[in-house]
Amino acid sequence: MLEICELTKQYGSFLALDHLSLSIGQGELHGFVGPNGAGKTTTMRILATLQLPTSGSATLEGVEVTQNPKEIRRLMGYMPDFFGVYDRLKAWEYLDFYARCYGFGYKERMRMIESLLELVHLFEKRDSYVDVLSRGMKQRLCLARALIHDPKLLILDEPASGMDPRARAEMKGILKTLKELGKTVLISSHILPELSELCDSLTIIDHGKLVFSGTVEALSSHMSGEAPVTIRLGGEMNEELEKRAVSMLKQYPGVTKVIREEAGLFQTSFDGGDDAMVGLLKAAAQALPVADFHRAPLNLEKVFMEVTQND
Ligand SMILES: Nc1ncnc2c1ncn2[C@@H]1O[C@H](COP(=O)(O)OP(=O)(O)OP(=O)(O)O)[C@@H](O)[C@H]1O
Ligand SMILES: [Mg+2]
Repeated sequence: MLEICELTKQYGSFLALDHLSLSIGQGELHGFVGPNGAGKTTTMRILATLQLPTSGSATLEGVEVTQNPKEIRRLMGYMPDFFGVYDRLKAWEYLDFYARCYGFGYKERMRMIESLLELVHLFEKRDSYVDVLSRGMKQRLCLARALIHDPKLLILDEPASGMDPRARAEMKGILKTLKELGKTVLISSHILPELSELCDSLTIIDHGKLVFSGTVEALSSHMSGEAPVTIRLGGEMNEELEKRAVSMLKQYPGVTKVIREEAGLFQTSFDGGDDAMVGLLKAAAQALPVADFHRAPLNLEKVFMEVTQND
């Protein structure tokens, strides 16, 4: 649905985007992750036709962003990271203003505003002035604004920044609903664990360059060199059995470290993907009375620190 190809943006001599390529499928919730200054907003602004790339292309449903910006604006809705809201308007008037800009008639606007306010959980606030809405509410109102023309792709630049945990959970719920409505969503954040819970696929960029793009599962196997695996033996423990366990595990190809944590409990480092893990489990269960075998879940915070250089 969205194809970004070799997208490059140069600000003077500074290279903000460096031949970035990625693609997003129809109906995907795609996370766009990177540290501050990675180039997320630059990419999104180019997609939203607000900025021109230095070179490269981005095509949405076969329409190229620089060739046909008008059509692109019809196809996508953009929620910027910083936005102005008109303070002297009520929530519903704010949406009405934008709906008028799109040329919708009165009846259609009223119906649309009601359903959008419901979607973003602001229906009870429809008569509140925008300036008395909380930050999280303003963000949700802006999301509703981005949805007015029923775009196929939503580009959301850090929609949950500065929100408290409850507001974040609410935003997640809204994003799930959007997915159910068949929207394709590109959402940026610098919090990888948060996005990985929510998204089907992810792109990680750093210094304008692609680090990773693919499904969350693919990210796990991409990073799974040296996965910590914990093995607990059941039944009576004795020295001979424990020695046998250490020797068996140490000899297994891909096991780089075996630590005896306590009687019958071993922590290993295993360098192998899912298939190799199946082999290790089978071999361990054949040789030893394995009561528990598990791989520690991927620490996404750690992954983020590893894949993005901090300087
Ligand atoms: N108009 C501009 N002129 C010069 N440099 C710019 C301009 N806009 C962005 N940059 C630079 O390009 C780089 C990428 O910025 P961008 O805003 O795209 O990053 P980001 O990933 O959105 O970061 P954040 O997480 O802080 O929002 C930064 O180094 C920034 O200073
Ligand atoms: Mg940004």
